[in-house]
Amino acid sequence: MTIHFSEAVPFDLSESGSEYYQDAWIYDHDFRWYKQDAAFYRNMVGNLGGPVLEIGCGTGRLLVPWLKDGLTVTGVDLSGDMLERARQKIARLGKATAANATLLERDMRRLRLAPRFNVAVCAFNTMMHLYTHEDLAAFLGGVRRALLPDGTFLFDVLHPDFRWLMRDPAKRWSRIRFRHPHYGTWYHYTTNHYYDAHDQIAYIYVYHEPVDEKDGPSYVLRFGHRIFFPQELTYQLEAHGFEVENLFGGFDGSDLDLYSTSMVFICRRR
Ligand SMILES: C[S@@+](CC[C@H](N)C(=O)[O-])C[C@H]1O[C@@H](n2cnc3c(N)ncnc32)[C@H](O)[C@@H]1O
Repeated sequence: MTIHFSEAVPFDLSESGSEYYQDAWIYDHDFRWYKQDAAFYRNMVGNLGGPVLEIGCGTGRLLVPWLKDGLTVTGVDLSGDMLERARQKIARLGKATAANATLLERDMRRLRLAPRFNVAVCAFNTMMHLYTHEDLAAFLGGVRRALLPDGTFLFDVLHPDFRWLMRDPAKRWSRIRFRHPHYGTWYHYTTNHYYDAHDQIAYIYVYHEPVDEKDGPSYVLRFGHRIFFPQELTYQLEAHGFEVENLFGGFDGSDLDLYSTSMVFICRRR
C-alpha cells in the first residue's frame, strides 16, 4: 500500500496527538539510539533521592535504572501499551526491586497525587504534549501538589530550532532504512511536519514504508509538539509556584545558546 498524502497539514490533536505511543515496540525501536539524557537524570535523581515521580514514563527507559539504583518510583503515562512494556521490563528486575515501582495510567493534565515525592521528572519532550495554556497550568498545578515542600522538578523540552520549524512540509526528511521490528523486512522511515506559528504547535508525521511494497503495510504515525520558548516557560513556572534554579542548554550543563537543541530545567517547589 502506498501512502497518498505527503504534505503535512494540521490535524485534531485530541484524536491523533498520541498515535506514536500506541505501539511501544515501534517507539522503543525508533528511539533506541537516544541516550544522551540518561546519565544526567540518573545522577540528578540519585543525588536527590526518592520517592521519585516520572510523568510520561513511557516504556521505562529512565525509570528502570532508578529502580536498579534502589529508588522508589511512581510512573504515570496515558498509554496503556507503553506502560505494559514498562511493566515487563520492571518484572525482569526481580520481585524485591519491582515492589518499589508503581505504574499509573493517567493523564498528566489530571494528576491527583498526594504530596509525597521528593523529585518529579518529565523527560524527553513529554511536556511538548501540553498544547494549550490550560493544559500547561493544570499540569504544573498537579506536579506542584505532588511534590514535598522544597521538592525538585526536572524536565527537558526541545529548544526552538527555526531552521527545523521552517522546513518545507511538502517534502520528506530524515530518511533512514531500518529492519522493521514486527515484520522483519526492510523499511524506510521518513518524517515531515507543519508548524502553526500562532498556536506554536508542530504537527509531526512519521512515515513507515516498506522498501519493497510486498514486504508489509505502509503507515503514518502522527503527534503534536507544542513549541516552548525559554522566557515563556520560566514565566509559567514562576506563576505556578516554582523557582527556576537552572536552565541549561544540554545535559552536560552547558549554557543555553542559539545552537542548543534542548532546554533542561531544574526547578524547586516554592
Ligand atoms: C517522548 S515519550 C517519553 C517517554 C519516556 N519518558 C522516555 O524518556 O523514554 C512521551 C510519553 O508521554 C506520554 N504522554 C503523552 N501525553 C500524555 C498525557 N497527556 N498524560 C500522560 N502521559 C502522556 C506518552 O504516552 C509517552 O509515553
